[in-house]
Amino acid sequence: MAIELPPLPYAKDALEPHISANTLDFHHGKHHNTYVVNLNKAIDGTPMASKSLEEIIKASWAEKNMGVFNNAAQVWNHTFYWNSMKPNGGGKPTGDIAAKIDADFGSYEKFAEEFKAAGATQFGSGWAWLVLDGGKLKVTKTPNAELPMTSGATAILTMDVWEHAYYLDYQNRRPDYMSTFLDKLVNWDFANANLKAA
Ligand SMILES: [Fe+2]
Repeated sequence: MAIELPPLPYAKDALEPHISANTLDFHHGKHHNTYVVNLNKAIDGTPMASKSLEEIIKASWAEKNMGVFNNAAQVWNHTFYWNSMKPNGGGKPTGDIAAKIDADFGSYEKFAEEFKAAGATQFGSGWAWLVLDGGKLKVTKTPNAELPMTSGATAILTMDVWEHAYYLDYQNRRPDYMSTFLDKLVNWDFANANLKAA
């Protein structure tokens, strides 16, 4: 069963002016789609072809089959990233995640500082994450395609800090993109749903 490119959970221009339709056109339509196409090419005719995306990620990581892992993880990461944002999102969290952030980081401001620092200090391409690890919320970062799943942590939110995520709208200003992600885009409903399911 081939892995499919999921549609964006909102219209292509729904995140404007913060993330342009042009960026989403390339990022979803080209980058995300290419990971899907390359993954299907790599697993075609192998035992991986009958596995779920999560199973492919875990198996390829265990086997250090990076050609499969990098594409599979990037398919998963991007779908998770689209859902980590919403139109008119951003700002302080609500619901259970708000209380848990206060408990585990001290305050939303401390979390935001740590999350942006993770994104800023991820040299080159990668991801900043809010994860649940051992019952506690933590901020982590991963290089390239790596993701919390392989270390047993549960992803709650992610921010893509590959240049292709922001270059068309922000050029080299990664800090501006990260602030906008938190202030205008982050989807706390998705974070609450992931926390509840963890
Ligand atoms: Fe990306």
